[in-house]
Amino acid sequence: MGETAKFSIEGKTIELPIMKGTDGPDVIDIRKLYAESDAFTYDPGFTSTASCESKITFIDGDKGVLLHRGYPIGELAESSNFIEVCYLLLHGELPSAAEYSDFEHTITHHTMLHEQFDRFFQGFRRDAHPMAIMVGAVGALSAFYHDSTDINDPQQRWISAHRLIAKMPTIAARAFKYFQGQPFVHPRNDLSYAENFLRMCFAVPAEDWKPNPVLTRAMDRIFTLHADHEQNASTSTVRLAGSSGANPFACIAAGIACLWGPAHGGANEEALNMLKEIGTVDKIPEFIQGVKDRRYRLMGFGHRVYKNYDPRATVMQKTCHEVLAEVGDSDDPLLKVAMELERIALNDPYFIERKLYPNVDFYSGITLRALGFPPEMFTVLFAVARTVGWIAQWKEMIEDPVYKIGRPRQLYTGAPKRDYVPVDKRG
Ligand code: ACO
Repeated sequence: MGETAKFSIEGKTIELPIMKGTDGPDVIDIRKLYAESDAFTYDPGFTSTASCESKITFIDGDKGVLLHRGYPIGELAESSNFIEVCYLLLHGELPSAAEYSDFEHTITHHTMLHEQFDRFFQGFRRDAHPMAIMVGAVGALSAFYHDSTDINDPQQRWISAHRLIAKMPTIAARAFKYFQGQPFVHPRNDLSYAENFLRMCFAVPAEDWKPNPVLTRAMDRIFTLHADHEQNASTSTVRLAGSSGANPFACIAAGIACLWGPAHGGANEEALNMLKEIGTVDKIPEFIQGVKDRRYRLMGFGHRVYKNYDPRATVMQKTCHEVLAEVGDSDDPLLKVAMELERIALNDPYFIERKLYPNVDFYSGITLRALGFPPEMFTVLFAVARTVGWIAQWKEMIEDPVYKIGRPRQLYTGAPKRDYVPVDKRG
């Protein structure tokens, strides 16, 4: 046995192997702990627990590092594009020119939905939240694409991955159109992934969408920044759902449900609402006092893993400035509030001591609003982007020889065993 960790419990010494990754903290392998000690470990929120081995994404939260298959997110956001990042996450390597073109062709040619699928949307209330539609519609893909739900067939796993990445923008755009009461716009094969999505969202029968390279690039970059983030809550949800053998479409629907929460994907909507509520720069000190008095949190700040500047926030801030300049909104009062709030928070001991820095959501709300999206769509866009991360992680789990159903244990503190009392004898 290599390096081990020893600890004693009730007079017995237990020796556990230490696993080493390429980078990051060592991991103590506790798989035999229960058998040898009759004890569980307690870790609500999984702050000290690695649930799997993965080769996809690495984060060093203290240094503010995010790598996909070894490549820094800043370099990918600057020099690559979303389709290439999808290939990288799924395959482990950057594609050759021919591989890139094949992959792009495959994704582009799977964007259409079965015509019958469109009728599915009509069942939702006309004002349904687009995320509610996403949870239902993506789950419903399992009812339409039976030929790619056999998780034990490697070919079917690839087909479901391609279908999900390709169809997610079409479903998201339909959720948006339905929410707005506008007719659906079909995908077009001559457009890029981001262009196609923007057109399906913003074209109307009375007027086609006009391509704009700055806005398309911003959309593509937002997708790239959100593509994967190792074992976050929604990805862990996808893995846990998939660990029972559920089909990939159902697993991704579970991930979307988890992403919806305000502590996760819903944060950019909350961050924008917060900026609107503050309204003007002079209201910031009063607002910061409220945060310190713990009446509310500074949304778009803080992260479970990053205890430094979120590297995605740096790119997002730059993209935000580019988009606002392009749409002629550089004087947006909310941008002024955001920049001043960031400046004050980064210099305030309350935030410094707790290592609270802006996360990717701090600037994404203002940017998405400038692109023309209402807040209800923000988390939907996140879901479109994260689909590749979810499916790459799901595939990795299914292909891992040690994979088994996820089944956490508990510390039971409820009533001890007691006898049933008939209703007429209860005091
Ligand atoms: N504003 C004010 N104080 C905060 C914030 C915040 N945004 N975040 C954490 N803190 C404080 C806590 O009050 C706590 O202080 P204490 O030690 O004095 O009690 C300390 O910092 C640690 O906070 P925890 O809640 O223990 O940190 P955790 O890792 O559980 O939370 C989270 C991470 C949920 C992201 C949190 O920072 C938060 O609520 N942020 C706002 C929501 C947000 O922006 N979420 C987006 C995350 S990124 C993403 O999903 C893409």
